[in-house]
Amino acid sequence: MLSRVAADEAEILTIAVEPAARASGLATALLSHHLSRLARAGAAGVFLEVDETNLPALALYRRFGFRQVGRRSAYYAKADGSKANALILKLDL
Ligand SMILES: CC(C)(COP(=O)(O)OP(=O)(O)OC[C@H]1O[C@@H](n2cnc3c(N)ncnc32)[C@H](O)[C@@H]1OP(=O)(O)O)[C@@H](O)C(=O)NCCC(=O)NCCS
Repeated sequence: MLSRVAADEAEILTIAVEPAARASGLATALLSHHLSRLARAGAAGVFLEVDETNLPALALYRRFGFRQVGRRSAYYAKADGSKANALILKLDL
């Protein structure tokens, strides 16, 4: 998990769980702990970008209350040569 804080805004750059350990709540625990740390560091809001086809990540973020504040078309280049849109999500802490 990697994020950065500037003034009162934070950005989550990446969160990943080893494939064999997924769907057992690890990312939920990690994100919960991390959001608490960001709030203590002075962040009032957290932003992130996510591929709109990434259902596990969207499920995770929506459960924490992240809401969509933007969308970038054809933002990600996929291995098969196609492009995927990015959703910009925000959570107020
Ligand atoms: C996204 C990721 C970090 C989730 O990690 P995880 O430890 O499996 O997540 P959790 O077990 O805490 O589950 C979080 C939510 O995702 C859901 N989920 C997990 N695996 C899923 C799957 N294969 N399909 C759909 N939803 C899934 C869970 O049901 C849960 O949602 P719920 O609480 O509403 O049921 C993990 O899939 C991952 O590392 N993916 C690759 C990296 C990535 O895409 N990171 C996000 C970039 S923005």
